[in-house]
Amino acid sequence: MTGTLVIDNIGLLISNDPSLGEGPLGLVTDAAVVIADDRVLAVEPSGSVADHRIDAAGRCVLPGFVDSHSHLVFAGDRASEFSARMAGRPYDGGGIRVTTDATRAASTAVLTDLTRGRIVEARAAGTTTIEIKSGYGLNVVDEARCLDIAGEFTDETTFLGAHLVPAEFEGRADAYVELVCSAMLDAARGPAKWIDAFCERGAFDADQCRTVLEAGRRAGLGLRLHGNQLGHGPGVQLAVEMGCASVDHCTYLSDEDIEALAGSDTVATFLPATDFSTRQPYPNARPVIDAGARVALASNCNPGSSYTTSMSFCIALAVRDMYMTIEEAIQAATSGGAAALRRTDVGRLSPGSAGHAVILDAPSHHHLAYRPGVPLIWATIGGEPQPGGS
Ligand code: NIG
Repeated sequence: MTGTLVIDNIGLLISNDPSLGEGPLGLVTDAAVVIADDRVLAVEPSGSVADHRIDAAGRCVLPGFVDSHSHLVFAGDRASEFSARMAGRPYDGGGIRVTTDATRAASTAVLTDLTRGRIVEARAAGTTTIEIKSGYGLNVVDEARCLDIAGEFTDETTFLGAHLVPAEFEGRADAYVELVCSAMLDAARGPAKWIDAFCERGAFDADQCRTVLEAGRRAGLGLRLHGNQLGHGPGVQLAVEMGCASVDHCTYLSDEDIEALAGSDTVATFLPATDFSTRQPYPNARPVIDAGARVALASNCNPGSSYTTSMSFCIALAVRDMYMTIEEAIQAATSGGAAALRRTDVGRLSPGSAGHAVILDAPSHHHLAYRPGVPLIWATIGGEPQPGGS
């Protein structure tokens, strides 16, 4: 779009900039947001003039969601695994190999179309920035292929070769880690911005994850880690020690983990849709936030443990079951996600920020938790995932 755009007649604006309005969310009533070249030019009183105008008609506007953890590039279906879990079977991550088989067998065109469909879905649900991991290729060619596909939709691409030991390396995890850190990383370092590893019993231990992260750092990638998903473990401490931007899941946290997070720049990213879908206990975010740690919420959209792109759903779960206030949950899904990606341009609506916004078909942000399951996203404006335009 050429020229300026104004989102006018905003009943309640969540700017995430306390210098613009009330409280930590920077709440402004009767506002207008003026955008040019995908950037916010100004936040003004309603009635502002521009080349193009969207009338929010008193609705609530907030920054587009920043979903800092997803696995969108995959083929195949694991609905039967979900049903088995609902019948009492535990989640153990072993289904990653099922998706790996399906993903390796799919053509690039099919995988790209499948990913595009999920991006369209995420965008309709208000996501304007999304991180996408590989991790269902688990060989040199397919990991690079998945990262190339991810790169068509986002700059936030993550190499997750250390997701699970593939079947052909059964019993030879160290040999697989060596491959991840050599030929696989060589092929991934171009299309990937980040490197990640799954630090969990049954996946990779702390030493193996440290080896992978160190190799990634040498290759110039930023660091992230899956940790403390299925039980207490060394993931959080390792992520803090390595200076990871984020440690994701954090379902099981000890007091020492919380203390370490609070004294670090590592964001604790909660993925409550995963706890929902795997019947894990929800983590209590209260002591984490009260200790001063930075937190984010993300979808973890993947075919095994969390097949949803809905950040609104994650917000509702976080408020209902993780004891976040609605304000904390919204921040975690916007500026918190931005912090987990070490971004300052997204997750807020204030002069100079990205012009990525969501218009809710509701008068206030409270409705995101108050009306769970209702499609409240009236419009999604700007943002990276725009296949075929907004
Ligand atoms: O974040 N924890 C590891 N990876 C995904 C699950 C992948 C799968 O089950 O396919 C997760 O939950």
